[in-house]
Amino acid sequence: MKHPVVVGLQYGDEGKGKITDSLAKQAEWVIRFNGGSNAGHTLWLNGQKLVTHSVPSGVLYSHVKNFIGAGCVIHPLALKKELEELAGAGAKLGSDRLLIDSRAHLTLPIHLALDGAREAGASGIGTTKKGIGPTYTSKTDRSGIRVAQLDAPDLEERIRFLLEVFNPILKAAGQTESTLKENLEVIRVAQQLIGPHVSREATPFYDIAKKSRCVLEGAQGILLDIDHGTYPYVTSSNTIPAFASIGTPFPSSRIGRILGVAKAYLTRVGQGPMPTELHDETGQRIREKGHEFGATTGRPRRTGWLDLDELRLSVRLSDCSGIVLTKSDILSGEAKVAARIDGKLVEFEGWSSVTEGEALHPKMETFVQAIEKHVGIPVVALGTGADRAAMFWRRPIDDFWSDDVST
Ligand code: IMP
Repeated sequence: MKHPVVVGLQYGDEGKGKITDSLAKQAEWVIRFNGGSNAGHTLWLNGQKLVTHSVPSGVLYSHVKNFIGAGCVIHPLALKKELEELAGAGAKLGSDRLLIDSRAHLTLPIHLALDGAREAGASGIGTTKKGIGPTYTSKTDRSGIRVAQLDAPDLEERIRFLLEVFNPILKAAGQTESTLKENLEVIRVAQQLIGPHVSREATPFYDIAKKSRCVLEGAQGILLDIDHGTYPYVTSSNTIPAFASIGTPFPSSRIGRILGVAKAYLTRVGQGPMPTELHDETGQRIREKGHEFGATTGRPRRTGWLDLDELRLSVRLSDCSGIVLTKSDILSGEAKVAARIDGKLVEFEGWSSVTEGEALHPKMETFVQAIEKHVGIPVVALGTGADRAAMFWRRPIDDFWSDDVST
């Protein structure tokens, strides 16, 4: 059996949560492999809006087990708030339903302070200020604190070392240094909260992947990949599906269909190039209609037309076999829509609604075919509204867990 991976093909916020949620219905495991509380996946439960950050999007199904992989970083206070909100909405996650890899790294107050200090200066890039970059920095320079160390006898010593390495940076930036006390306070929360959920298995999915249906859920988008994105305006983890295997770990030969999620237009939060950005009232209208305000930070998202040159690159980087085009309904009613193709903005006639009868609206179909022609793979489905069920399957995929990954 091979397992699907869901990734965003743009700059995050493509609506991956909804797609993962719809696959999760048929799955036993939903697995996160990168990022941390910088992500914001919007889900709907009984008409109530829920935003998950670190927790995988399988939380709404009581039969699904959720796994936070080794490639993720965990902000204990944010996770606590998230779990409380989920419990309040009726999705209580016991240790049977949420597992956290002991190799995942912890985001502590020092990391948040470092992210804040960098963002306050001229070299800020518009991060979510959730301490993501500094947590991955401490991971790679081997001063980070892993979940596994929460009950280690030398934990306090490790934290002292972390502070020794990074406090001089805060000091040089004229910021208050982070104290042992404040970091230990968060550690205590983590010990209580994370303790029961820890998975210490070296290869948790080696056997599971042979028999149980898994969905691997990427955070952020391909163009924010630390190696292949628009550096330095990127996040600090790998977002391409190859990382699904590393950041879990998940047996690489068991990775099957890769589904890329892209919005019918483009949004970006934070700095970085965006050739199709709209600074006019059309951009404003799309932002309002599409509720394009950060799920994590509340920041208004920069809005622009779909960039098919970038999308083609993302399709190649992710090697996805099908695109799910989300939020096409937000563009309904626009007289003209546009997309960047070979460096030029090409105009298309707009559509009044995404579907007409049983089929796509002919103008929508023309737009979709232009996407397919330029990027070279099919648009398999379209999101037609906020509702969980609002999807139009253009090429129904019978079995997402099949070994045949041609679409
Ligand atoms: P960081 O991941 O907080 O370090 O932020 C780095 C860049 O990635 C910034 O441009 C953020 O706005 C962007 N970013 C990080 N996570 C997300 C996300 O889930 N959606 C959209 N943008 C994100």
